[in-house]
Amino acid sequence: MLVLRPEEKDDWWEVEALYDLCFAPGREALSSYRLRDDIDPVAGLSLVARDPEGILGGAIRFWPVLIADHRALLLGPVAVHPTRQGEGLGGSLIRESLYRAEKSGWERVMLVGDAPYYQRFGFSRLEGVEMPPPTNPDRVLGVDLTPGAWAGVTGKVTRSA
Ligand SMILES: CC(C)(COP(=O)(O)OP(=O)(O)OC[C@H]1O[C@@H](n2cnc3c(N)ncnc32)[C@H](O)[C@@H]1OP(=O)(O)O)[C@@H](O)C(=O)NCCC(=O)NCCS
Repeated sequence: MLVLRPEEKDDWWEVEALYDLCFAPGREALSSYRLRDDIDPVAGLSLVARDPEGILGGAIRFWPVLIADHRALLLGPVAVHPTRQGEGLGGSLIRESLYRAEKSGWERVMLVGDAPYYQRFGFSRLEGVEMPPPTNPDRVLGVDLTPGAWAGVTGKVTRSA
């Protein structure tokens, strides 16, 4: 049984190590990281999952971004330790954090990722929302937290400090 709770300062390096384990080397060279440099993840929505012994099983982070003057959450990275994958933890982290985001008043969430995984959480391709290059536009996905939140939202995604 894993417990989900908001990430705290002391979790930072352990979460980084989990991401290093789960992603290909050089993950920080990805263009999405330029939107995160020197900006803290969104507190309260970025979550860690720990087992009763305190061992980290998974983590999810969110950053604030802007598309023109519209605020959005950038989901990711999300990762589950290889020994715990396929047991629903990734889904729990995503669903719980999206629920918290909606309750906190956020209207829209985007990410760069695999549509076959994220469509089960309501994500679909965002037309006209441009991540910093090089990003495959087919991997730019979004979900509404309030009805129609992505309607008419287009343009370049920029940092929100
Ligand atoms: C992606 C990840 C977070 C999913 O976590 P998880 O706890 O294993 O996921 P869940 O148990 O909730 O869901 C498992 C399901 O997702 C599917 N899935 C996992 N990754 C997928 C992907 N990239 N594309 C399509 N389906 C995927 C599995 O096949 C499984 O399908 P099933 O339900 O039909 O059996 C985890 O596999 C991981 O950390 N991967 C490495 C890091 C990564 O790729 N992060 C996402 C960046 S886009």
